[in-house]
Amino acid sequence: MTTTLPILEVKQLVETAVKAAQNAYIPYSHYRVGAALRASDGTIYTGCNVENASYPASICAERTALVKAVSEGHRQFEEIVVVTRNGGFPCGICRQMLYEFSPHLRVIIADLNGKILYEDRLSNLLTHGFGPIELSK
Ligand code: THU
Repeated sequence: MTTTLPILEVKQLVETAVKAAQNAYIPYSHYRVGAALRASDGTIYTGCNVENASYPASICAERTALVKAVSEGHRQFEEIVVVTRNGGFPCGICRQMLYEFSPHLRVIIADLNGKILYEDRLSNLLTHGFGPIELSK
């Protein structure tokens, strides 16, 4: 079960994602993305997109945050905030990677000014998702 984060703390998480977006390395797309992922114990990991001259080697902000968190021992997450200039949604690859750990993750979409535009559960953004349980059947 997930708990509902108080609105003030949601705002802080949004501000953290906005700050993380400042570090985006985006010489090719110029599309800035920031993420803030909160683990079940309250630890927050940030991410930004990091592009590469070999374009497919680039990584999204959400996966940057997720890999940082998992590599530090976290496997359960409550919320992710994703910020872009226009309220873009997490790509399919990021949805899939997040689904592995927390299918019911709360996904909050905001802009670079910190305005919240949308929120929903990951399981609604990735319906009939493929997760670890499928491999145990
Ligand atoms: N991007 C993200 O960081 N997250 C997403 O979910 C969608 C796309 C990045 C990848 C690339 O650096 C830029 O946005 C344009 O696709």
